[in-house]
Amino acid sequence: MREGQSTVTKRLEYAPPAFWIDNVDLTFDLDPTKTRVLNKMTLRRNPAVPVEPLKLDGDELNLARVLVNGQGTSFRLEGERLVLESLPEGDAPFELEIFTTCNPEKNTKLMGLFLSDGAFFTQCEAEGFRRITYFLDRPDVMASYTVTLRADKAKYPVLLSNGNLVDEGELEGGRHFAKWQDPHKKPCYLFAVVAGPLVAREQRIVARSGREHLLQVYVRPGDLDQTEHAMKSLVNSVLWDEARFGLSLDLDRFMIVATGDFNAGAMENKGLNIFNTKYVLAKPSTATDSDFDAVESVIGHEYFHNWTGNRITCRDWFQLSLKEGLTVFRDQEFSMDLAGTPSACAVKRIENVIGLRSAQFPEDAGPMAHPVRPDEYLEISNFYTATVYEKGAEVVRMYQTLVGREGFRKGMDLYFQRHDGQAVTCDDFAQAMSDANPGSDLARMLPQFKRWYSQAGTPVVKAEGRYDADARTYTLRLSQSCPPTSGQPAKEPFVIPIRLGLVAEDGRDLPLQPENGNSRHEGSMTYVLTESQATLTFVDVDSEPVPSLLRGFSAPVKLDCAYTPDQLMRLLAQDSDPFNRWEAAQQLGLRIAIDLITSPAPLPSRPLNDAYLAALRAVLRHPELDAAFKALVLSLPDEEYIAEQLSVVDPQRTHAVREAMKLQLATELQSDWVWAYEQCKDTGAYQPDPISSGHRALAGLALQALCLAARDQGDIVWPGKAYQRFKDAGNMTDRLNALTALINSGHELAKPALSRYYDLFRAEPLALDKWFALQALAPDHEGNVLPIVRKLTQHPDFNLRTPNRARSLLSSYCHRNQAAFHRPDGGGYAFWADRVIELDKLNPQVTARLARAMDQWARLAEPYRTAARTAIERVAAKPDLSNDVREVITRSLASSVPAQESTNSSPSIE
Ligand code: TRP
Ligand code: ZN
Repeated sequence: MREGQSTVTKRLEYAPPAFWIDNVDLTFDLDPTKTRVLNKMTLRRNPAVPVEPLKLDGDELNLARVLVNGQGTSFRLEGERLVLESLPEGDAPFELEIFTTCNPEKNTKLMGLFLSDGAFFTQCEAEGFRRITYFLDRPDVMASYTVTLRADKAKYPVLLSNGNLVDEGELEGGRHFAKWQDPHKKPCYLFAVVAGPLVAREQRIVARSGREHLLQVYVRPGDLDQTEHAMKSLVNSVLWDEARFGLSLDLDRFMIVATGDFNAGAMENKGLNIFNTKYVLAKPSTATDSDFDAVESVIGHEYFHNWTGNRITCRDWFQLSLKEGLTVFRDQEFSMDLAGTPSACAVKRIENVIGLRSAQFPEDAGPMAHPVRPDEYLEISNFYTATVYEKGAEVVRMYQTLVGREGFRKGMDLYFQRHDGQAVTCDDFAQAMSDANPGSDLARMLPQFKRWYSQAGTPVVKAEGRYDADARTYTLRLSQSCPPTSGQPAKEPFVIPIRLGLVAEDGRDLPLQPENGNSRHEGSMTYVLTESQATLTFVDVDSEPVPSLLRGFSAPVKLDCAYTPDQLMRLLAQDSDPFNRWEAAQQLGLRIAIDLITSPAPLPSRPLNDAYLAALRAVLRHPELDAAFKALVLSLPDEEYIAEQLSVVDPQRTHAVREAMKLQLATELQSDWVWAYEQCKDTGAYQPDPISSGHRALAGLALQALCLAARDQGDIVWPGKAYQRFKDAGNMTDRLNALTALINSGHELAKPALSRYYDLFRAEPLALDKWFALQALAPDHEGNVLPIVRKLTQHPDFNLRTPNRARSLLSSYCHRNQAAFHRPDGGGYAFWADRVIELDKLNPQVTARLARAMDQWARLAEPYRTAARTAIERVAAKPDLSNDVREVITRSLASSVPAQESTNSSPSIE
């Protein structure tokens, strides 16, 4: 296996390309083992750059011929690069023709041209195009593409590429061809080809603009019945982008194609999005409510890239968040707008924040911490991270918070007006937002605001409130800090918009009258913290309020406020901001968990106090709150989020504490759970709407609680009901919730249920993925999960080459089953190391994600820490690791040195 250069790429070393490529004419003779690619390009020198040789990127290509203006020419290979020195002088365009072959069947990396179940697909972002032909594989080189595909007609009846179909026809020997022309210039990472036996669901729509479009969703012939939701989501995406941002579809035809072998979720190739089947296919019998939601948001995400990413693209890969953060923000807004009611919006917001806290916060505190706009990388694929995506989306959201929805729209308009058709930077986006909103807080603070792009780490905002009854004032003292991260020992203050209100005893928001004469606000206001410390005083405050801070999670920070439990209860019961109501419950649960985890005493039999239980009961029984919201409030903070608060993590203790809390919630609210279950269990004919999915979520949570309580009491009624529900369920959400209830309560009926599940779904890959995941996520009984997972790696349906299947077993176990993975004997880590070494030979990208299961090793308590380190060192010792895995492992081992020491380490250590 050959690897590319193992050199670090640095943001500040960006230089424009020495050549431009204006036109690309590609001809493919598609063949599984030897695909021929004829690449005819028009190039010219970039007059802005000193004369230098042309160095084209390549990777695992077989070179057959190079012609310049139709003539043979001298060339050499420098590593994987093709170097041409004797090219025509001057700025005039010239033709370069390159003929290569590649082997799609051997392409287990799934980058470039690969086969999936007998069909051809491509994946070019970030640097996959160089695996198809020699090219300037960088996003600031934008060209017009014409693509001719030739292949066996019986095997590959459908031939697709970007843009418009301009010609097609028969060839000799049972072959046929199709010729595609993309009307828009694009960087090569947006190039795509698909060929195979596919069928399409089609829909014609007329957009607001009056333009007619053909929408197509291509899948395998048997899967057409699972494309309705995807098509609906696509139609909604087109309409939404027009309505909210005035952005219309710029193509006659927009295609989505699904494949079961894909490294990521989906890819926004111009006019030809390629999707992991997981984010296209959905039918009630095999997809859960979250699966339906994920289809909607990923379809939206890729569609929205058409403007934010494709029309305006990234100058270099350090700007990745320019398109990803912005597009995640847009897909989040899309899903919130579709959800409709304020409560359903709040649920979406809470779900996004849960994701941020359990994935991005730990990332920002671990060895892979990096700014939203990273400064260097060994392998760019490793930076498609929660920080670039989810924290990046929060940064975009803060612009909107600072300039308002209308101001944000103005900024977007200016951004398109200035940069349509260009490859630009995060600075360009920031400047457009600021210039479109002169006089705004953002415009005044822009250089400081941009620290969100350059400084890694999660800031902490400390808040202290004081009520002066005599003066009738309420004073908030706010301060901010940010922990050091690798290479950034000290941080400058951020611009932190803090949406806040003051909640009176009766739950109403007090009017907000800041002392310094600023205008009065009725419910909430946004205070912008820019200094390390600031004091904010409100006057005419009649009674002591509880401050409700960071409403709607207005900034990606940790709030440290010494609330009393009573104050949190008031917020939970009454805050007008639903996000902070949920947050109050999380904080209450988190504090109890942390106190128990850090206490040396054995776990008490009743870890939860009556007031907390009563508060949660009141939410569960509340006559007005939506079921989806109740389900979120009644769910304890997850183990990743709890662990993130601790400087030393004992995963077994964390797990045991959370389980004890869960059990008490189950037993002491038993009658309330019965009531909730009865209220919510029947949702009629399946619809994935927020109300009925909320009922299913709460019924599912109730059933889990009731089965847990039943185990505690030796009762068999609820497990019996769960088994019955598992058998009779009319949709996958109810079925999976019932099965999970049996598995999590350790009931013996889980076994027959699992084998029945297998019989039902053995022919449905996405449902079978869940079968593997369920077993990898099962509660650990005396270390039984690891042997089960090990055995499942030998199961005839397990396949390490299929990322979805590998993730469903390996990532579920290593990333999401803390108690089973972190074994005192280190067996989980040894298993991890073996799989990382094994999988890296096949698919480095997927492996690098799996490798990150050990990110937090340096914070583990003994004996975990030493065992983890041993396993990581065993991987590190392998000489032929991919750059992807090497980067993750090297950073991980470096994190054993505390940040202070690493900055002034003595030379002898090296
Ligand atoms: N641009 C894609 C998205 O976020 C991400 C992606 C798809 C990707 N395929 C990839 C990233 C392969 C790295 C490697 O929508
Ligand atoms: Zn994206």
